[in-house]
Amino acid sequence: MHKHIVLLPGDGIGPEVVSAAKRILDAVAGRLNLTLTYEEHLIGGCAMDAQGTALSQDTLHACQRADAVLLGAVGGPKWDDPAAPVRPEQGLLALRKGLGVFANLRPVRVYPTLVDASPLRAEKLQGVDLLVVRELTGGLYFGQPKGRFEENGRVRAVDTLEYWDYEIERILDLSFQLAQSRRGKLTLVDKANVLESSRLWRQIATDMASRYPQVTLETVLVDTAAMRLVSQPAAFDVIVTENMFGDILTDEAAVLSGSMGLLPSASLGKATPGLYEPIHGSAPDIAGQGIANPLGTILSVAMMLRYSFQLEQGARAVEQAVERALAEGCRTRDLGGSLTTAEMTDAVLQRLAF
Ligand code: NAD
Ligand code: IPM
Ligand code: MN
Repeated sequence: MHKHIVLLPGDGIGPEVVSAAKRILDAVAGRLNLTLTYEEHLIGGCAMDAQGTALSQDTLHACQRADAVLLGAVGGPKWDDPAAPVRPEQGLLALRKGLGVFANLRPVRVYPTLVDASPLRAEKLQGVDLLVVRELTGGLYFGQPKGRFEENGRVRAVDTLEYWDYEIERILDLSFQLAQSRRGKLTLVDKANVLESSRLWRQIATDMASRYPQVTLETVLVDTAAMRLVSQPAAFDVIVTENMFGDILTDEAAVLSGSMGLLPSASLGKATPGLYEPIHGSAPDIAGQGIANPLGTILSVAMMLRYSFQLEQGARAVEQAVERALAEGCRTRDLGGSLTTAEMTDAVLQRLAF
């Protein structure tokens, strides 16, 4: 089998974690009769510097033609001026929209050996295994109108929270299916006591629930959900939520696992290449030092093997190698250890077994 992958290392620690994850992909390919070819493109701040845009048409087209896309991170202090007309993050949003990857799967697991890395008490963390399905191409990030408008000498800044019924239906449908394949519980997180869009989500979810009798649907307001995520995290199975709530709740959920550097993601659509990226950002505070945790990106590669290439065996091999490395005490600095990015990657490579 041959697969063509576009690599988008991006900014900050992005290139460091993407080159680590590529080593894992190559090792898996060598074992599974998989031939991989790669092409690399710019995105984010580095693309703005070199090409004047955070995502060129050429790069987007290359991604649309690929079998899968692996992204590091975008952004950094160099491009952070709030008055700037272009921002690195716009490149990432345009890529997600351009690929139509509306479902962002962010699994959160607690590795038994890492309970000491989380500020939460061990008994709270027992049994935590949840999946956040974040809607990725709608909501506040994309709703129109958006922008600054001058009226009567005053400035008005506008973002619009908007969802079409079909956008809600497709992500809920996927979430019910995912819940059915797991422990059968789906939690819709919304703000239906205030937001009209949330009330539409609830209505569609409640109607759809009758098609999935094996799944129990519960609805939780986002403020309560934020609290429960740290007070009773093991009670969640699949959480589905709109774009911005999902962004915020998954950084919170990363605290359960012990580090931002651990969490992977897969962004999927219909008949489009999947986009795989860790949930963390460009980590400007540690960029260039070779100490970033590569596991979020390595686990994203496992998701690529599973969802884009249907290579469950390869995905499990990578996940088990990560589990073994952590169980045997391998730790980067964010987890209280001293391994470099390359050493942590070596540790995973050494434990890859088929
Ligand atoms: P961040 O996720 O980059 O960093 C938050 C903290 O977590 C930092 O202390 C950082 O050192 C640490 N951290 C993150 N990833 C790590 C890793 N792999 N290993 C070890 N430590 C890690 O968030 P931020 O500092 O708020 O944002 C920095 C920039 O990244 C901003 O420009 C933001 O817009 C951008 N960002 C990009 C993405 C993305 O590309 N998907 C995601 C989030 C933030
Ligand atoms: C993420 C990031 C992005 C988001 C930013 C960089 C646009 O925080 O992938 O979680 O908000 O989606
Ligand atoms: Mn985020």
